[in-house]
Amino acid sequence: MDPVEQLREEHENIKRGLKLLNIAGRMADDGSLPQNETDKLLTFFKNYADIGHHQKEEDILFVKLLNINTDLKSSSSPISVLSEQHVQGRNLMNKLKLMDDRFSLFVTDYNSLLQRHIEIEDEVFPVLVEDNLNNSEISAIYLEFQNVDSNLNLYSYLKILDQLEVFLL
Ligand SMILES: [Fe+2]
Ligand SMILES: [Fe+2]
Repeated sequence: MDPVEQLREEHENIKRGLKLLNIAGRMADDGSLPQNETDKLLTFFKNYADIGHHQKEEDILFVKLLNINTDLKSSSSPISVLSEQHVQGRNLMNKLKLMDDRFSLFVTDYNSLLQRHIEIEDEVFPVLVEDNLNNSEISAIYLEFQNVDSNLNLYSYLKILDQLEVFLL
């Protein structure tokens, strides 16, 4: 598989998580936020989406692209915009973890940020990779992604989604 395709598949899993998070947000408004399930869902976002997926982008893909094409370092480049959105996502995740009475507001903000973020990435990643990287660089990125997956046991977090889809959908 190519690394762009792998990131796109991970985006689909993150969107599965967002669907569940929106449900938890509505339940919070009704005064019935399921604490345990929400806690598991936030663990999914922290470990799968942020530590696994976003760091794969930042520490591997973005680093390679920036080394090869220094124009991408400009503040208006897609890499800069996407990196800033990762920071915003981490800040919102810290607010979500409070699970306080603003929970559903933070869910709305986090959902719109990540939906938009994923939309941009699915559109620009194929072009950025095609324009800047050769086949051996693309294969090297894919190998590095596999290392991250096995080091973090990333697929294990998909079980959280499977369980919560049974409970919440
Ligand atoms: Fe991202
Ligand atoms: Fe992404």
